[in-house]
Amino acid sequence: MNLNATAVVTGAARGIGLEIAKKLINTGWTVAALDMLEDDLNRSAHKLGSMYRPYTVNITDTQQLAVVAASIGKELPVVKGIVNNAGITRDALMMRMGEDQWNMVIDVNLTGAWKVTQAFMRSLIRAREGSIVSISSVVGLIGAAGQTNYAASKAGLIGMSKSLNRELAARGITVNVVAPGFIETEMTQKLSEEVRSDYLSRIPAARLGLPVEIAEAVAFLMSPSAKYITGVVLPVDGGLTT
Ligand code: NAI
Repeated sequence: MNLNATAVVTGAARGIGLEIAKKLINTGWTVAALDMLEDDLNRSAHKLGSMYRPYTVNITDTQQLAVVAASIGKELPVVKGIVNNAGITRDALMMRMGEDQWNMVIDVNLTGAWKVTQAFMRSLIRAREGSIVSISSVVGLIGAAGQTNYAASKAGLIGMSKSLNRELAARGITVNVVAPGFIETEMTQKLSEEVRSDYLSRIPAARLGLPVEIAEAVAFLMSPSAKYITGVVLPVDGGLTT
């Protein structure tokens, strides 16, 4: 299947973003994979073939983004999808958190998503169709000690998306949020047994989620089946927040 449309996916070199890229490619999208990790991007491009197009860029840099947006406009099918997935953590209790830790996380997770959306949304508006999905977190819904910066950035994505939905829904564009729970990634594999079993005891499904389960939700929200679903926050968390 070839949709002849491009989805821009940030943080797509590895982890959940890479899984989202794979799933979108399987459903016919060309994926413009934006990430800072050039080696990982090239490795993934080698594995996934020509529907995965790597672009090395720091999404906090407006000028780099403008250059990449211009290249994508020339090189790839029309952009009709945006997935704001790139994210970082810089955890510390608020008493000890430095302003640099606060700023860095807000810059990447929230302002970065705003910049990427602004850099590519004109294309969706011109096409009079498309979908924007931002990857938040259950932490944006329920909070987590040591993550005031991360939780604020992830809750911010929800406010941004709900507002943008009100600007774009009448133009045939859906704007949604996926809020993953605890997902099996490098990050969670490094947790101690104690922390892991504490997480597990709080998840009704009694297991961590898989990156592919996040990718499935994103692909659904970007599919024709979800054209009338917009402005929602979809938790994919084994029942943790419900
Ligand atoms: P990861 O660290 O494996 O992947 C994040 C990707 O974003 C990396 O490839 C990184 O290079 C890229 N990135 C970071 N800053 C960037 C920047 N300034 N410009 C361009 N690329 C940048 O993380 P993971 O686990 O795959 O997470 C993906 C998203 O899912 C993040 O937004 C994270 O907050 C969110 N999430 C993850 C959960 C988990 O359990 N792993 C749970 C809930 C949400």
